[in-house]
Amino acid sequence: METRVDEIAEGIYRISTFVAEIAPPAGFTFNQFLIAAEEPLLFHTGMRQLFPAVSAAVGRVVPLERLRWVAFGHIEADECGAMNEFLAVAPHAEAAHNTLGCLVSLNDLADRPPRPMDDGETLDLDGRRVRRQVRNINTPHVPHNWEARVLFEENTRTLFCGDLFTHLGNGPAVTDRDLVELALDSEQVFRQTSCLTAAVATPRSLADLKPQTRAVMHGSSYRGDGARALSALADGLEARFSPEAEFAARPSALAGPLP
Ligand SMILES: [Fe+2]
Ligand SMILES: [Fe+2]
Repeated sequence: METRVDEIAEGIYRISTFVAEIAPPAGFTFNQFLIAAEEPLLFHTGMRQLFPAVSAAVGRVVPLERLRWVAFGHIEADECGAMNEFLAVAPHAEAAHNTLGCLVSLNDLADRPPRPMDDGETLDLDGRRVRRQVRNINTPHVPHNWEARVLFEENTRTLFCGDLFTHLGNGPAVTDRDLVELALDSEQVFRQTSCLTAAVATPRSLADLKPQTRAVMHGSSYRGDGARALSALADGLEARFSPEAEFAARPSALAGPLP
C-alpha cells in the first residue's frame, strides 16, 4: 500500500492510502487532511493499522510533535481509530469534536480530555498570520452517527465533508469532475447513509457555505461549484433512495402479485 501526500488547497494536504482489496476491482481510498497552520489540525486519523504510514506522511509536512488538533467527522475506526496514537506522539494535541461526541464517547475513549465544540463554534488555527479558522457544523445522522459533523475552513472555503461524496476508485487527489453520480453509485454499494430525511436536508443547508474545495474522505477531493454539487447530491439521494424510489426499484421477484 502506498500513502501519498498532495496539497489540495493552500496549506491543506490530503494524505491518501489506496486499498485495492476493498470493493474490487475499483478499490477504495482512506484520506486524512492536514491543515498546516500555526496550530496544525489533522482531520481523520485513519485506522490504528494505518498509523505508521499516516503518521510518517503527516511528519513529511509538519513535525508530528507540533500537531495541535486531532479532529474527525464522526466516531468510527477509519475516522479516529488512531486518535490515541496521535495524542501519544503529539504532547500538545487535543481531540476536538462536537459537544455531543465528547459527552457520549470521547470523554471515555480519548487518552486526554477532548475539546468540545458547539455548533457553529470556530477554532483559531493561525491567529497571528492569515486568519485561519475552522468552523464546527453539526450534521446529526449525516451521513451516519448522531455525533456527525463537518468542518469548514473559511480562508480557503474548504469543506471537510468526511464520508459525504464517498466514491470508489483511486482517482486524482483533487478533481473538477462531477462526483455526484459516483457518490450515488457508491451509496448503492455501501448503504452508508442512515437517515434519508436528514441526508437530503443537510447537504442543501451546507450548500449555503458555497465551498470551493470539498475534502472527501474516500475518493478524490473536488474543486468547483460546491453549492451546486451539494444540492445535486441531495436531489440524487432523494430521487434514488426515497421510499417511493426504492419501492419502484424493488426486485421483480418482490414486485409481482402475492401468491
Ligand atoms: Fe463513516
Ligand atoms: Fe469514512
